[in-house]
Amino acid sequence: AYLKFDDSKLGKFVHPDELPEIQAMVTAADKELRDGTGAGSDFRDWLNLPENYDKDEFKRIQKAADKIKSDSKVLVVIGIGGSYLGAKMAVDFLNGTFYNSEPDDKRRGVKVVFAGNSLSAPYIHDLLNYIGDDDFSINIISKSGTTTEPAIAFRIFKEKLIKKYGEEEANKRIYATTDAHRGALKQEADANGYETFVIPDGVGGRYSVLTPVGLLPIAATGADISQLMKGALDSSKEYTNPDVNKNDAYRYAALRNILYRKGYTTELLENYEPNMRMFSEWWKQLMGESEGKDQKGIYPSSANFTTDLHSLGQYIQEGLRDLIETVVKLDKPDYDIDIPKEESNLDGLKYLQNDTVNEVNTKAYEGVVLAHTDGGVPVMTVHIPDQSEYSLGYLIYFFEVAVAISGYLNGINPFNQPGVEAYKNNMYALLGKPGYEELTKKLDEELKD
Ligand code: PA5
Repeated sequence: AYLKFDDSKLGKFVHPDELPEIQAMVTAADKELRDGTGAGSDFRDWLNLPENYDKDEFKRIQKAADKIKSDSKVLVVIGIGGSYLGAKMAVDFLNGTFYNSEPDDKRRGVKVVFAGNSLSAPYIHDLLNYIGDDDFSINIISKSGTTTEPAIAFRIFKEKLIKKYGEEEANKRIYATTDAHRGALKQEADANGYETFVIPDGVGGRYSVLTPVGLLPIAATGADISQLMKGALDSSKEYTNPDVNKNDAYRYAALRNILYRKGYTTELLENYEPNMRMFSEWWKQLMGESEGKDQKGIYPSSANFTTDLHSLGQYIQEGLRDLIETVVKLDKPDYDIDIPKEESNLDGLKYLQNDTVNEVNTKAYEGVVLAHTDGGVPVMTVHIPDQSEYSLGYLIYFFEVAVAISGYLNGINPFNQPGVEAYKNNMYALLGKPGYEELTKKLDEELKD
């Protein structure tokens, strides 16, 4: 297997009978997923995306990325939720923490910054200042084309773009990623002649990183999106066998369900690399929106190590015993650094001076797994070999297919997200959006109480 899945430390938590016993349910879940007999079957197009994506559009994405690289210093990517997290985690994973600060001749592509993923005025203010007088373009991403946060941010950054370039040139610097037919953004894009890219109907937001939603921002950093798709394709071919002894993604889904049913209700996704923090955020949406419904589901959380060993570490070691840990361990980072030799041993580090920083990081990981297992926390690890586009594509698909199986194992529809809508209606009503008059009255009354 390309990704090594390690569940060797689960002996204390999972009885040898449990995996064989859950196999029949995994086989049924696999059938629901592959045959489309399960709930939410209209939203399974991500399954074959690595093979069936629109190749002409893919070329257009690469061309657009080249144009952006030639005429801009910064790309402002506007979107939220599924229209944000995948691009952000991939940009960070593939380019490192200080990518945007690297000198122009070292960076592979343009700086990529994100907006429209909150309603924070100071954030927008700071980002406008950050762009300053630099040449820039905008990629506005919204499947519905009506989401408030990105729509507001788009107005603001579009205004800056038009002031700088005039309307005609600004329209050529706006790339809209949205539904093929519906929504306000699609209408605006058609009216103004923005270049558009399509978010396919059968792909939900949290599964959309391998569509133009993720691909254009990723390509703008100079990363190789063909390799990303190739990794996902090989991954999609690997994880098809329903047998949990032959399919690590399904095995992971089965094990977390076995653990969930005995009271392990929170799962922490963990990394040992600061540029993988956003990977956890992406994973949290994928897991939480897929599984948290009908009053059940594992609560997806995260921890960033070794940083959080000095904060959350105490809780994980000795707090309430309802935690699962899943580590995504990067085995060979792009860079390693020797620990410097010093004549004196004043800092007491002489015993480490033949080691590298990554060797120490790996020992920390091994030590943590043993300590947490000892403390009563089941730990699983997904090892990724390197920081390449190919590996990231592989990993993305691993978790996508795993959560689909996991959701069916827990008897829910893994592909809808009805709960995301509830707050939106209240917000629209409170802001006085036309069509919400009745709800406005009701909420105003409730606020008075
Ligand atoms: O998964 C989801 O449905 C959400 O997180 C959406 O992606 C998010 O609300 C953004 O929606 P849209 O792309 O329609 O602007």
